[in-house]
Amino acid sequence: MSELAHLGPVEVFTPRFDASLAFFVDILGMDVVEQAGPSTYLRGWGDYQRWSVKLTARATSGMGVLGLRAWSPEALARRVAAIEAAGLGLGWTDGDLGRGDAYRFTDPDGHVFELYFECERYAAPPHLAPAHKNVPGRFTGRGCAIKRLDHVNLLAADVRANRDFCVDTLGYRLYERIELDDGSEAGAWMSATIAAHELIYTRDAYGASGRLHHVALWVDTREECLRAADIWVDAGIEIEAAPSKHAIAQGFFLYGIEPGGNRVEVTTGGRFVYAPDEPVVVWTEAERAKGQAWGVKTVPSFHTYGTPPVE
Ligand SMILES: [Fe+2]
Repeated sequence: MSELAHLGPVEVFTPRFDASLAFFVDILGMDVVEQAGPSTYLRGWGDYQRWSVKLTARATSGMGVLGLRAWSPEALARRVAAIEAAGLGLGWTDGDLGRGDAYRFTDPDGHVFELYFECERYAAPPHLAPAHKNVPGRFTGRGCAIKRLDHVNLLAADVRANRDFCVDTLGYRLYERIELDDGSEAGAWMSATIAAHELIYTRDAYGASGRLHHVALWVDTREECLRAADIWVDAGIEIEAAPSKHAIAQGFFLYGIEPGGNRVEVTTGGRFVYAPDEPVVVWTEAERAKGQAWGVKTVPSFHTYGTPPVE
């Protein structure tokens, strides 16, 4: 097994804080856990930790800190040693809300990560307590009724360098990737779990560094993705890609742009990888040119737009 348990929580920067917060709470249906300074901590009803998304007021959009939980204190110490040996460590922090000591580092592209083990589990107040003790919180059914954070897609100037770091230093498993005719890598889909993607890198069309492609939030059914599209269109949220199915990882998606400018996905489905010797799926340029598994044709902005915007 990987020494990483899973990805998350994630911090999202927004230059339009009030509008973004209203989107995450009223449209996506996430709950406010705590407000601290320029940040609001949010959770889906199925997140086991106290929070999974931290929305922070900032001059521009993009991703702040991406959390990764280690399997154990020992796994955390071993990964920190590996990161320091790779020369990408920033140092220990006091952690974040409900989180113990955490180690900050960057990937080769400059995205900031925080690796931790200790964290508080969510304890639902009486009015949000679920009927069954194997569910973290009550299903409230508000808005898109997001269940939990699922995955994050980062743009990178050099996909392969970041993929190598994640596999060799962090211990991620590489499940799928795109190799163009010139031998360069256009995308890499990695996971610390059997879910086919948790952490994704795709090529930044502008060759910029440290940018975000999208944050994906989970619902249990395709019907809820379709319902999310209905809710978004009524709320005036820009739908970038209507509900369709990805060829890579087989995930079902709805993509849109939240008021702060960041791309957000409502997702479900996707394949699980059970085999310890699962071969890495390599997609060629010609295969990718066929588009998604089915559904709408991918719009050009999907391959160029990221946050923060390129000057
Ligand atoms: Fe996605």
